[in-house]
Amino acid sequence: MKKILIATTNPGKIAELSAMLDADVQWVNLSDFKDISEIKEDGQTFAENARKKALGYAKETGLWTIADDSGLVIDALGGQPGVKSARFSGAKDKERTLIDHKNIAKVLKLLEGVPKEKRTAKFVCCLCMAGADKVLIETQGSLEGLIIDRETGTNGFGYDPIFFVPKLNKTVAQMDADEKNAISHRGNAIRKLRPLLNELLQSAPTD
Ligand code: IMP
Repeated sequence: MKKILIATTNPGKIAELSAMLDADVQWVNLSDFKDISEIKEDGQTFAENARKKALGYAKETGLWTIADDSGLVIDALGGQPGVKSARFSGAKDKERTLIDHKNIAKVLKLLEGVPKEKRTAKFVCCLCMAGADKVLIETQGSLEGLIIDRETGTNGFGYDPIFFVPKLNKTVAQMDADEKNAISHRGNAIRKLRPLLNELLQSAPTD
């Protein structure tokens, strides 16, 4: 059976990717490699970061490696927070939820006075699967919405409480996990990767 590395230690992402890809594969993740050196996400685009991580970890482990990068792109802020989504406010709190609240506060401050019709935004997720010396698959998914002016809903993480999805008339933080996966940027990128991965697996020798 082919062994594939999911290049994260985030248990939520590992579960989501391995379940949604549903391939006949032995999945491993970064916590299975104790001494592996961390690859920095210092690219200018989500695709560049995903590619850099997938190629780097594939080279180090010799395994096919799937990496992702995602974030929020707000039109009225010239695409910010973009690749800086996780660390937009610069806060270094230990607790992720505190950082999320500070990131949201910064976005809301920058958008003060911007009218509703100009508060368009999208979540973007880029996925890359690489072997040791080449990119094998790249996909991208997005979810369009509007940034509202106060936090609404308690599910999810990150910018979910201020990201309103007009077609469902609620924020992402008001959706349950299945509802979110069905429309999300990450869900869409994974659904695009799935048939391409299965095609590659059919022609690949096992490790
Ligand atoms: P990463 O791809 O895990 O590095 O995520 C980057 C950052 O983008 C996260 O820390 C969040 O701030 C934001 N982000 C990515 N996906 C989502 C999402 O589904 N909901 C809310 N925020 C997200």
